[in-house]
Amino acid sequence: MAKHKLERFAENLTFTNLFQVSFEQLEKQGFELKGRWRTFFGNDNPIVLELGCGKGEYTIALARQNADRNHIGVDIKGARMWRGAKTSNEERMPNVAFLRTRIEMIGSFFGPGEVSEIWITFPDPQPKKPNKRLTSPRFLDLYRPILKAGSPINLKTDSRELYDYTLDEVVTPAGYAVEYATADLYASGYGGMATAVQTFYESMFLKEGKAITYIRFRMND
Ligand SMILES: C[S@@+](CC[C@H](N)C(=O)[O-])C[C@H]1O[C@@H](n2cnc3c(N)ncnc32)[C@H](O)[C@@H]1O
Repeated sequence: MAKHKLERFAENLTFTNLFQVSFEQLEKQGFELKGRWRTFFGNDNPIVLELGCGKGEYTIALARQNADRNHIGVDIKGARMWRGAKTSNEERMPNVAFLRTRIEMIGSFFGPGEVSEIWITFPDPQPKKPNKRLTSPRFLDLYRPILKAGSPINLKTDSRELYDYTLDEVVTPAGYAVEYATADLYASGYGGMATAVQTFYESMFLKEGKAITYIRFRMND
């Protein structure tokens, strides 16, 4: 393994706002903050998740702009997540945490209704494996129990296929409420948070001239 990766993994262990739990630990003891994240943040502010946060810049940027909300970046790749954890530690950001886990395990980390918003930013489009798409019914079933009733889910992606799939094959047939949907976010004139901050991958796609799509919807409760 590359030396810098090992160094990052070691430093991750020193960050007080980065959580990673082994499967064995999870099975035996569960996760100590499940249903109790308020004890970590020291307040009852709404919790916003970024699923597949990569380096976590989006989580950090949202947290800077929304001090009255707690932001948690979730990803399986610790060496990437190190970047966001390092920045938030250096800047002593009180409303940021990172959780290293597979998104498939998300229900083990949050109590019923503990989450108030989800951002899914530039996930792998999984063209051949619909079941692995982070907006597939399988994943939405994992988010539903941890989401507060009526909470929004945001998807930003450069993949037109994933956008169409989410809108036409998942959200519309289920009758979920679409608050906003556009196949070209930056041409749409949308003024919400989705245009306020770019993720690492998004910046690359924008440089390549790709259109960024965006959907904000709420599942029925
Ligand atoms: C294409 S990157 C996007 C990263 C970031 N959101 C951005 O826009 O720059 C997708 C990220 O999702 C993470 N990811 C994909 N599937 C995952 C899963 N099942 N559980 C946890 N993380 C996952 C990957 O590790 C990767 O960092």
